[in-house]
Amino acid sequence: MAGELMAEGPRPADLAIGIDFGGSGIKGAVVDIKTGKFVGDRIRIPTPQPSVPRDVVALMDRLVHMLIEALPPVGGLTPADVAAVPVGVGVPAATRGGVVLTAANIDRAWIGYPAERELALAMGRIVAVGNDADVAGMAELRFGAGRRQRGTIIVLTIGTGLGTALFADGKLLPNTELGHIELNGGDAELRVAESARDRFNLGWKEWASGFDAYLHALERLFWPDLFILGGGASKRADNYLQYLTVTTPVVVATMKNNAGIVGGALLAYDRRLRETARAAAEPIA
Ligand code: BGC
Repeated sequence: MAGELMAEGPRPADLAIGIDFGGSGIKGAVVDIKTGKFVGDRIRIPTPQPSVPRDVVALMDRLVHMLIEALPPVGGLTPADVAAVPVGVGVPAATRGGVVLTAANIDRAWIGYPAERELALAMGRIVAVGNDADVAGMAELRFGAGRRQRGTIIVLTIGTGLGTALFADGKLLPNTELGHIELNGGDAELRVAESARDRFNLGWKEWASGFDAYLHALERLFWPDLFILGGGASKRADNYLQYLTVTTPVVVATMKNNAGIVGGALLAYDRRLRETARAAAEPIA
């Protein structure tokens, strides 16, 4: 029952909504950012085709309404708390200051689109937008395979595109876009993303030899302490891990499909903290 106290429930102030903008589906959930667990169900809606900004923003706004309506009872949650739940969105592109800068696998109309501002206007909430691999990486470092790991870590999201997140002692260097380095004279993503397996009809061994060459290229450039493999291909890692020959330890992401959502929620939570601190520091006119 709404308003009923739950014995061990999340604190209202720890709730944030994470949204993962994928090529085929837009997924979201309310997350307890202290545990990284979903509060209520994850909801997935097919990505509009073409994935133009106006339609995607309207769909994300609808998704947030659905998530709020489906929120199970959380002790002490007031309507004001619900209205203050922030939203974080991982987009499959480089972003700076909330503006989308690239569009490798989404509609080109996203280039230059002020996503953060438009989503905040549509939703009437605090919204933070970041790169999808960066936010997934944040979730893996906080709750998943990168937990308590120091040093240089590269998280890869291998799906429709090839995303990367680079961390040094837990600190993210955003928008690395290492999926687009040159490999054998072409864009690495076109050969190494999971979608390349279908496009070129590659068996696992063949695909893995390209992926291994790509990991070697990253190894030569960054000498990381750890690679974490996430995204769709991480679910099928048993098919190709044995073909990888890099000296850097390679582990599979543990948060699987949920990393993007949980990472989005972490981004949203941090943004709200910063906005609250800034508002508190402002002199009263
Ligand atoms: C984009 C990245 C994104 C990755 C995974 C790439 O094509 O350029 O920004 O992180 O796909 O979605």
